Amino acid sequence: MAGQTETFTTGGGRAADLTAENYRFLQEHLYKASGIILEPDRNHLLEVRLLPLLREQKLVSLNDLCALLRATRDPVVSRHVVEAMTTNETLFFRDAHPFQALKNELLPALVELHKDTRKLSFWSAACATGQEAYSLSILLLEMGLADWNVQILGTDLNQQVVEKARAARYSQLEVNRGLPAQYLVKYFTRQGQDWELKPEVKRFTRFETFDLRSSMAHLGPFDFVFCRNVLIYFDVPTKRQILEGIRGTLFRGGHLLLGSAETTIHLDNQFRPRSIGSSVFYQAP
Ligand SMILES: C[S@@+](CC[C@H](N)C(=O)[O-])C[C@H]1O[C@@H](n2cnc3c(N)ncnc32)[C@H](O)[C@@H]1O
Repeated sequence: MAGQTETFTTGGGRAADLTAENYRFLQEHLYKASGIILEPDRNHLLEVRLLPLLREQKLVSLNDLCALLRATRDPVVSRHVVEAMTTNETLFFRDAHPFQALKNELLPALVELHKDTRKLSFWSAACATGQEAYSLSILLLEMGLADWNVQILGTDLNQQVVEKARAARYSQLEVNRGLPAQYLVKYFTRQGQDWELKPEVKRFTRFETFDLRSSMAHLGPFDFVFCRNVLIYFDVPTKRQILEGIRGTLFRGGHLLLGSAETTIHLDNQFRPRSIGSSVFYQAP
């Protein structure tokens, strides 16, 4: 893309030219701050995602935003650029079948394994707004484990989604996606237009900001790690580093669940893929 000028139109109806140099600047900024690779020619994505920030900062174009970032290095604006560029799509019981496999096979095995200590630990890595962690919490309550010592850590790079996860409050649209109606009735209370999870569901969970590229030495040990639909955004060295880090946080024989488009194969050969139902789990040595 070097030397080319990309053109986009802002939602405010004003056309602005994002220079190739500024496109590269935003690519590098995003990569440094998150590891996310922004492909060439994603001007439209930049425009859509960053328009609210332009409005908030009273800026006319993405070139202005780049000038501001260069001049001030404002950490808040800097972070907001990265947060706006993360894709935070998630839903309750996403993909359904891994939760079936957990319920029918993996969780009963863990319950048997830890029947003496009655302690279970999980990590929802790149948890976005928390639906994955809360789905697991509901599943564990449904299995009658309310009086076990269960810890579910949810982490994400994006501070705004972590705050939303902590609040445990979801819109009607969000609870309509993936959540069986009987769980809505049983585990949520109505709060105005929204639905809030009951304390018993929240009790197992804790949410923190965390960059998956950081040292994981202080995390774990976990029985099970979810790390779904995030490796797809990274390059191969970053994927390898993250998989190795996660492996180090798992108990011997613990499992990792990736997104359906992700795998450890050719990236970390110490994980052993295990098919259960229509899901693949990756078992640590
Ligand atoms: C598509 S969501 C996946 C949510 C959930 N795991 C699921 O599958 O439903 C991807 C999440 O990865 C987070 N993310 C991106 N880069 C990250 C990084 N370097 N460290 C931690 N989280 C990151 C984003 O903020 C976003 O919330």
